[in-house]
Amino acid sequence: MEIIFNCTQQSIKKAAKALKDGHLVAFPTETVYGLGSDASNQTSVARVYEVKGRPTDHPLIVHISSISQLDSWVVEVPEYALNLARNFWPGPMTLILKRSPLAKDYITGGQNLVGLRVPSHPTAIMLMKEFENLGGIGIAAPSANRFGAVSPTTIDAVVAEIGSYLSDKDLLLDGGASEVGIESTIIDCSGVSPKILRPGAISKEMVEEVCGFFSQDNISGSKVKTSGLLISHYSPAAEVVLDGKTSPEDGFFAMAEIQTPTGAIRLGAPVTIEEYARILYSVLRLADQKGLKRISIIQPSGNGLAIAIRDRLGKAAAR
Ligand code: TXA
Ligand code: MG
Repeated sequence: MEIIFNCTQQSIKKAAKALKDGHLVAFPTETVYGLGSDASNQTSVARVYEVKGRPTDHPLIVHISSISQLDSWVVEVPEYALNLARNFWPGPMTLILKRSPLAKDYITGGQNLVGLRVPSHPTAIMLMKEFENLGGIGIAAPSANRFGAVSPTTIDAVVAEIGSYLSDKDLLLDGGASEVGIESTIIDCSGVSPKILRPGAISKEMVEEVCGFFSQDNISGSKVKTSGLLISHYSPAAEVVLDGKTSPEDGFFAMAEIQTPTGAIRLGAPVTIEEYARILYSVLRLADQKGLKRISIIQPSGNGLAIAIRDRLGKAAAR
């Protein structure tokens, strides 16, 4: 594998060609890094599952460069979903819609629905455009981590997660630290109203404002299969303890205003909720790098992004 640190248009063209030739390209997005493959190439997509160690019935998100690519992948877009796409793309939101014949079983895990997202990171956008110039129609990409592990938000984390599983001609694009830091909001748009399947930076309130009606949170009741819905996920090797007693030698993570308990090892002190989300996954990784056995975390309160953070923390803490 090759890592490209200063992504120029030239190097991104090379990456697009690598994708078209069937290789894998890890790329930055504003949420987390993705492990990209040509969504029309079954063999490449199969390699993504292999590298991630992910069960094949878990679907992949198809990444497209703009809303105009949507029609190739879906057969029906409700008005409210179109409004969401117009308002929040490019951005940290994935829409689940009824698939067109292009979205094969090997992308959707055999479901009749496909997940689509237009990411906003400039390197991702350029990669998708160059890929489309070569005749590609979408990049199927999960987060670039091993199944069940913490999503990578830096190129170093990508290398640590999957570097040893990649082959010679696979490429990794560095785009700096991901700005949002946690995965996109997933919204099931296959019914009469939107249902949030995975909370993220696009909050329930934002969805409701755009759609003009109540969006159901249907996380537990949904029949849609989403791997982030497994109870345990996003887990570091260290044990994660939430809002509990902190012992000396524990790693400790909380908002800056909360003092470090005696003897604990402070891993981060975010000032805003956005910063909390942005650094959360590197903090979990840092604890493992330091060989800590436990991380004591004080969850942020409030709505919006805090809900998404608590969702990930709950899963990181589940065993
Ligand atoms: O922010 C993100 O969404 C990142 C970046 C790389 O775009 N991607 C990401 O992919 O988090 P992944 O595969 O790690 O998580 C995507 C989730 C999975 O839980 C998957 O099951 C769900 O989206 N998903 C994808 N397509 C789906 C579909 N057709 N129906 C239901 N769930 C779907
Ligand atoms: Mg993932």
